[in-house]
Amino acid sequence: MIDFTTKVPVIIDLKKILDVRGNLSIIEGKKDIPFTIKRTYWIYDVPGGEIRGGHAYKTLHEFIVALSGSFDVVLNNGKDEMRFHLNRSYYGLYVPNMYWRHMDNFSTNSFALILADQEYDAGDYIRDFDKFKEVVNG
Ligand code: TYD
Repeated sequence: MIDFTTKVPVIIDLKKILDVRGNLSIIEGKKDIPFTIKRTYWIYDVPGGEIRGGHAYKTLHEFIVALSGSFDVVLNNGKDEMRFHLNRSYYGLYVPNMYWRHMDNFSTNSFALILADQEYDAGDYIRDFDKFKEVVNG
């Protein structure tokens, strides 16, 4: 059982209903991931070599799934960097608030699904890495 109270990035395996007609996976807010889903968006048609993200959220939590293809999610807590390779639709990465994150290494036709616990708020972003380090490291 995953301890969601620690607020650390973690890969979460999703339910898989295997079926000869095609498989099915499920994400229910507050059940399979540690928050209620308020917003869903997706990133697709990423040209080779491109990088998305490059910011932190002050309060927002998210969950990222590679619904198709593969990509890396790179997280930095102000001290250490962690790289997660996502390449299956039946697991995803929980990213708590206050992690600097970018996404790179997108494969052709990759499709990143992102679930967030808040509506879009430009004011919740930290877009300057030095400022982010100042905030987390004091
Ligand atoms: P952004 O989160 O900055 O993407 P990335 O960090 O990958 O470059 O979003 C890109 C643009 O899309 C930005 O102008 C804000 C807009 N946007 C919305 O309007 N609503 C949303 O839910 C998201 C995620 C982005």
